[in-house]
Amino acid sequence: MSPIKLSGRLLSRLEFAFVRYVYWHFNKPVYVILLGGPGAGKGTLATQLAPKLGLAHISTGNLFRREISRHSALGKKIEPILKSGGLVPDEITIAVVARELARFANRRGAVLDGFPRTVNQALLLERLLDSWSQEVCFVFFLDVETGDLIVRLAGRRTCSNKACGLTYHMDFNPPKKNGVCDKCGSALYQREDDREDVVLARIENFNGTNEPMLRFYKQRGRLFTIKSSNRDGKDSVLTRVLAVMFRNWQA
Ligand code: AP5
Repeated sequence: MSPIKLSGRLLSRLEFAFVRYVYWHFNKPVYVILLGGPGAGKGTLATQLAPKLGLAHISTGNLFRREISRHSALGKKIEPILKSGGLVPDEITIAVVARELARFANRRGAVLDGFPRTVNQALLLERLLDSWSQEVCFVFFLDVETGDLIVRLAGRRTCSNKACGLTYHMDFNPPKKNGVCDKCGSALYQREDDREDVVLARIENFNGTNEPMLRFYKQRGRLFTIKSSNRDGKDSVLTRVLAVMFRNWQA
């Protein structure tokens, strides 16, 4: 029987088992990059994918928000940028990511959520991984229509417990109890940068940087596009991503 004819759930479990087998067998650090507009589902997918593959989940947005909540010098510097939906300068972003990656350099690899966002960041990441004889294995572009992005961000709620940070959607992925995280019981909140005017600025920034990023990773043969709409659930995206990894694994 062709695996494609199996149910999505079983297919996903088989692919996961295979990816994990190959991964452990060859012991190759795996770096997966998630590209996509604000609300495209990068964080949601990373939260599903990273534990399945035993990878670290590195989200630049979460790292920056943590600095802001700690009121650190860096947090104070970047707070107005996040509030307005702008991009944090490359030199700051790269320093933060390099520090974080160094913690995981000799481990299994990472899912990078929200980084790189510019070709400059992508080049510096390439150089950094190269200096450790490692490389980016898969780049997934989560392609979602702008109208759907706006609906997703308007309904997103995030767990206030920074160690948990799970995200929900009031319509597509609601918590069991209104306003409360299913996993840790903390209160849910709406991110400040999910206000409509800030969302539009974030989408504009994304539209300005995305094409060169897609070209960069297409040239390297690492780019895979996963199209989704608000009618698809998050599990359908995960299953398709695992299917791509299954078919394109290079040991
Ligand atoms: P960041 O936190 O990375 O924000 P973003 O890229 O705008 O992405 P989001 O976190 O808003 O969305 P997501 O794609 O993770 O979607 P999610 O899974 O939550 O960055 C914030 C800011 O930090 C930036 O604006 C910038 O200032 C700065 N920054 C970060 N990285 C930077 C960098 N590299 N360089 C410079 N500056 C940087 O999903 C959204 C909603 O949709 C949720 O409610 C979810 O439940 C729902 N959903 C998810 N998947 C589906 C699905 N398949 N179907 C239906 N609903 C779904």
